[in-house]
Amino acid sequence: MSTSTVNFWDSAPDRFLEDDRANEARCVAAAAIAGEAGKRGKVDLLEVGFGPGFDLLDHLWPLLKSGRISSYVGFDGSVGMVERLRLAVQAKAVEAPLPKTRKVDLRHGTFADLEPDVADVAYTKALFEHQPEFAGPLRSFIRAARKLAIINWYRPPATAELRDYDAAIGVHSITWRRADVERVLVELGCTWTTRLMPERPCNELWFVRRADHGRRG
Ligand SMILES: C[S@@+](CC[C@H](N)C(=O)[O-])C[C@H]1O[C@@H](n2cnc3c(N)ncnc32)[C@H](O)[C@@H]1O
Repeated sequence: MSTSTVNFWDSAPDRFLEDDRANEARCVAAAAIAGEAGKRGKVDLLEVGFGPGFDLLDHLWPLLKSGRISSYVGFDGSVGMVERLRLAVQAKAVEAPLPKTRKVDLRHGTFADLEPDVADVAYTKALFEHQPEFAGPLRSFIRAARKLAIINWYRPPATAELRDYDAAIGVHSITWRRADVERVLVELGCTWTTRLMPERPCNELWFVRRADHGRRG
């Protein structure tokens, strides 16, 4: 991540992504996480690039309350976003307290900080589109999940790569080539299903499992 990109996320406006808060793809992702918990009662969850934290605050919080998510660890590369979500989580915990055993851990960090097999389920939304290169980050992300990795694309991979770069704010917005993304998943020994959301914004969810997922308990 370039320094200018970090600066952009750090200084993002207060209402950053509010217009995307009600995105149905967030609901579908949370339902998949709950479904994964259903098989053995609970999951621990990793999110990378949480930003303002709408997935956590609106959809994952009830799963934390009910215990279907036993712990949440989130990484974001922007100190500003981490601080912003820390405050929002404090407020949320007053409004809807979690049981003491439930952990919400917000960390400043990036793909290089992800340890292999660190969580049952790994989730990310609108993140790979902003990386200047996706393969290394994608490998780290997939390897971090013991059972299931969920990618919520706001620019679904397509036949041809399409790169936009906003030099004024130093942010890449890239539609990755589908065949390139799939090649990385095949190399990692993954199988996956996809779900394209019909309503605008037409996010696409990818549910990815490594061949060795599920053998680790
Ligand atoms: C477009 S926002 C998406 C936020 C959130 N996932 C959502 O969709 O509502 C991208 C977020 O990813 C973070 N980010 C960008 N590149 C990152 C990286 N390499 N490692 C960790 N976080 C990163 C940014 O700081 C920002 O908070």
